[in-house]
Amino acid sequence: MISKKLQDAINAQINKELYSEYLYISMQAWFANLNLDGFANWMDAQGKEERFHAMKLFNYLIERGGKVELKAIAQPTVDFKTPLKAFDAALKHEQFVTKSINDLMDIAIKEKDHASRGMLQWFVDEQVEEEAAADRIVNRLKMIGDNPHALFMIDTELGQRVFAPPVTPA
Ligand code: FEO
Repeated sequence: MISKKLQDAINAQINKELYSEYLYISMQAWFANLNLDGFANWMDAQGKEERFHAMKLFNYLIERGGKVELKAIAQPTVDFKTPLKAFDAALKHEQFVTKSINDLMDIAIKEKDHASRGMLQWFVDEQVEEEAAADRIVNRLKMIGDNPHALFMIDTELGQRVFAPPVTPA
């Protein structure tokens, strides 16, 4: 059985992952309104990935005999100003989530909860990818500046992204 402290912290993380989904689909809507359909597609895939993260924690908590307690999801920003500012906000958000995952891992270590440590290690590794993906796009958007042709090339590339959940979640 999982401790109450870890249960509460995982419930808080579920809320952050669901907020992440909300934030990215808000970005999806913003990009879609600009007819940047590739960027919108990337955000759609990212939102689905966040939902997967939330449900991975949700299912884990139930598996460990814990109680899932869903909380209200905060309203995300609706106007992101520029593609660069949107991705910069995504990167900052991922850095915030990484810190949150690390804090969760600290609790699991302190409690010597080895099962939770194993489950959370998946998230620690995932966050390296999450930050790297956003950082890569931030850097490319900085490079292209105001060049619309280059922006449409990135849009085409981001339109290829498809979210495929791992077949055997770790
Ligand atoms: Fe679930 Fe993007 O971290």
